Amino acid sequence: MSSRDRPTHTTLEAIVEGHVTTDTISPEDCLLESPPDPCTIVILGASGDLTSRKLIPSLYNLFINNGLPDPYLIVGCARSEMSTDEFRVKLRGPAEESGLDMKGWAEFEARLHYLPISYDSEGSYHELATFLRDLEKDVDTAGNRIFYLSLPMFLYKTTAQLLGRAGLSAENEGGNGWSRIVVEKPYGSDRASAADLDRTIHENFNESQIFRIDHYMAKETVQNILMLRFANAIFEPIWNRNYIDHVDIIAAESLGVEKRAGYYDKSGVLRDMFQNHMMQLLALTAMEPPNDFESDAVNNEKVKVFSALQPIAAEDVYGNLVLGQYGPGTVDGVKVRGYREEEGVDADSLTSTFAMMRVFVDNMRWQGVPFYLTSGKRLGAKLTEIVIKFREIPHSMFRDILGDHISENILTLGIQPREHISLKFQTKSPGAKVRLRSVAMDFNYLQGYDGPVLDAYEKALLDCMNGDQMLFWRQDGIDLTWKLLEPVLHECEICSDRADRLKTYEAGSWGPVEAMELKLKG
Ligand code: BG6
Repeated sequence: MSSRDRPTHTTLEAIVEGHVTTDTISPEDCLLESPPDPCTIVILGASGDLTSRKLIPSLYNLFINNGLPDPYLIVGCARSEMSTDEFRVKLRGPAEESGLDMKGWAEFEARLHYLPISYDSEGSYHELATFLRDLEKDVDTAGNRIFYLSLPMFLYKTTAQLLGRAGLSAENEGGNGWSRIVVEKPYGSDRASAADLDRTIHENFNESQIFRIDHYMAKETVQNILMLRFANAIFEPIWNRNYIDHVDIIAAESLGVEKRAGYYDKSGVLRDMFQNHMMQLLALTAMEPPNDFESDAVNNEKVKVFSALQPIAAEDVYGNLVLGQYGPGTVDGVKVRGYREEEGVDADSLTSTFAMMRVFVDNMRWQGVPFYLTSGKRLGAKLTEIVIKFREIPHSMFRDILGDHISENILTLGIQPREHISLKFQTKSPGAKVRLRSVAMDFNYLQGYDGPVLDAYEKALLDCMNGDQMLFWRQDGIDLTWKLLEPVLHECEICSDRADRLKTYEAGSWGPVEAMELKLKG
């Protein structure tokens, strides 16, 4: 053994340290190896809420953490007539409100520009092409461009087509470098419209240019699901039907529909949260280990989960689904309106704001294990978590003393607001009497780390600039999730007792009691 290989610890030291230490990562190790290529980010729909609340604060935060390329340009486009100066002023307030350090704002906003656009006029896109070329003469972004569609869904197809006709989707020709398009959910409203949208985008953009964003995938603790499962040897052997009784995937919100009734009242919770975020959480929890940590390998495994989802027959829909709508109530001590009294919502709306859906993954690993997916607005708190409930022990040696029931082990992956992993197990309660108590080992995700943390939109934007599609949807996954949901939605929308099936729950509660009944059925 060379002196270089010789251990520096005694055996006992190594054992003791192995038990108790947590690695501390230096912030420098977490920064990018190299910044992304210079590029221009064009936001179509730049006068909307998403731009001011999420996209610009995310880009600005990347900028102050040296995560934006050098140079970069950001161009906002929307119908409103507005000057670049007015656009900059409009965006400053929301960035400030999101608590960011505004010291770098003046430098950041110097690269922000605005161009009014008419989404369905081909001429407008030619003007955009000229506008970009002119800006890029002074700020050389090598003609690399991202077109972010922050638009209502009905404009996606036209916009993709007209970008193509104006020569903006072509790569490496006519002054262009690379060209990418970012599409926000909803990806269609059913299977056919999703396929039609995809066909239209593909007429102008290749698959490697298309980024179907789902911000849940880019959340730190969602990315961590794969690390937890596949970078540890202890979980994989018990991650199956032999040990797991059922899985709960919960995305609860205390907020109501806010100012989005126009969109939400047509979509409801199944289209808004299930076809995308909930399905991603399910896939990450249920998938087989990919061979490589690489975009296609990971997406292939997710798609296998989607294709193994047990179809829900029309007559079984309500045996596997509880739908609800919030009525008036109290949230965080404040009285709030019911859904039907919200601005822009019909007084007799039958749109669901809550759903619990039981799904099964038909494969060797998960046969017979129910996955309960639950999401809703105006619930008791903001809470997103994946809860793995293990089976109870098969035989209790304590039954003469403690009775038969011993609580099961529970592994909780807390996504938000608390980012943590917690394992509940049984221990002896101190004292002379034999008693058990449930305790929890709890890991806080940011423990031992004080470097920059990327918010979901920051990570997604950065990956798009880097051309990495791992955390974006692939169309085959979208198609398969619609395949599961479409008949369910259809049945819910046409059934004659639709109004009776929609259970009202009090705002601030944890949803309709019928959801508990669905779980008790097992
Ligand atoms: C969006 C939905 O995709 O996700 C919203 O359209 C929902 O209705 C939001 O409120 C939840 O995201 P997050 O990150 O706050 O959990």
